[in-house]
Amino acid sequence: MVGDFRKEPTILLNFISPIGFLKLAPKKIIHLVAAARPNFMKIAPLYHALKKESWAKPLIVHTGQHYDLNMSDAFFRDLNLPMPHIHLDVGSGTHAEQTGGVMITYEKVLMETKPDLVIVVGDVNSTVACTLAAIKLGIKVAHLEAGLRSFDRTMAEEINRIVTDSIADYLWTPSPDADENLIREGIAPEKIAMVGNIMIDSIVMITPAIRKATAQEELGLADKTYGVVTLHRPSNVDSPEVLAKLCHALVSVSEQNSIIFPVHPRTAKNLREFGLYDLLNDASGVILTDPLGYKAFMSLIFGCKFVITDSGGIQEETTYLKIPCLTLRPNTERPLTVTQGTNKLSLPERIEADLTEVMQRDVKNPPLYWDGKAAARIVEFTKAIFTEKNKL
Ligand code: UD1
Repeated sequence: MVGDFRKEPTILLNFISPIGFLKLAPKKIIHLVAAARPNFMKIAPLYHALKKESWAKPLIVHTGQHYDLNMSDAFFRDLNLPMPHIHLDVGSGTHAEQTGGVMITYEKVLMETKPDLVIVVGDVNSTVACTLAAIKLGIKVAHLEAGLRSFDRTMAEEINRIVTDSIADYLWTPSPDADENLIREGIAPEKIAMVGNIMIDSIVMITPAIRKATAQEELGLADKTYGVVTLHRPSNVDSPEVLAKLCHALVSVSEQNSIIFPVHPRTAKNLREFGLYDLLNDASGVILTDPLGYKAFMSLIFGCKFVITDSGGIQEETTYLKIPCLTLRPNTERPLTVTQGTNKLSLPERIEADLTEVMQRDVKNPPLYWDGKAAARIVEFTKAIFTEKNKL
């Protein structure tokens, strides 16, 4: 499960301490925790940036929440990440099974590897599980993408965000609204730093590869106008009635423009169980595929006319790329995507009208610090933690 990193020859390095003395210190072991598909693009730029620092030893911890090849391995390949240094192999289960399983397994790893800092990202079950395990052992935790709030406590992710932010030591936020949420919840301002949106770093990093990707040709979309669809939230895909409404709306949309729909495992299972798979599969304008890797998926996004989704990250990616996006949710923890003009919250019965409206909007330039330089800022904050400047 875990290599013995402490037994590797201690690498000594020089760095200038805040008081100006030249010090010798062992490399700082930093765990980067990733669990599920949206996490991999958040740790990748940070791993590459920390790897270049002589004082840092970043180790990737994969909890195994997502384990299928196309939900996990494809992302490691596309993002040029090494195999995870530590794999917890926890897999699927109920929320308590998954959260508890990660806590129990990660606690053992923490006691064995004794990292100097744990960095968790996003809002999945593993984010809160690893935070709880580390904090209780007195190990410092930084939460990247802190402060987002949908104000909808029926979402597992909202609970994960609130708990993680209330106990983590360092809260690294993507935008000013996140800082405001944390301050309103009584978090000490010195814990909070706006570092920007790390997802944009991943897009910038992968853009040259995307330009060479062939997914559009392979899917017969090269000379078509098309939209991209993704759906996986329990509120959309776990109820037969809601999923049926969505499928009928998507078939209607596909009569005007082709749609490409890479289907998440949860959604695929339910489409089959509810007898809805053939409705989509038989529609001439709908292309269903297995989930795609990051490069193939983003190349489809780069070339599409619109997106229909319930994902968090895709709302941000489309804002950065100025692509019209309908989000099939009653709320969003990413309100900037709406105020920038690219994103509109929608419902199955309003999809066609909302799509027409959102495609006619003027959109603003991407928000401050959504600039591909978040990882560099985080490296500076991390360095400051170890040079006492930012120690809590
Ligand atoms: C999880 C996250 C969600 C994130 C999403 C991205 C939580 C609470 N939810 O939701 O925030 O937006 O990932 O996809 O952490 N499965 C597979 N193969 C896999 C992974 C899952 O077949 O590699 C199937 C299993 O049947 C599993 C189901 O998908 O029970 C749901 O997976 P799970 O990780 O529990 O939640 P997601 O819906 O993927």
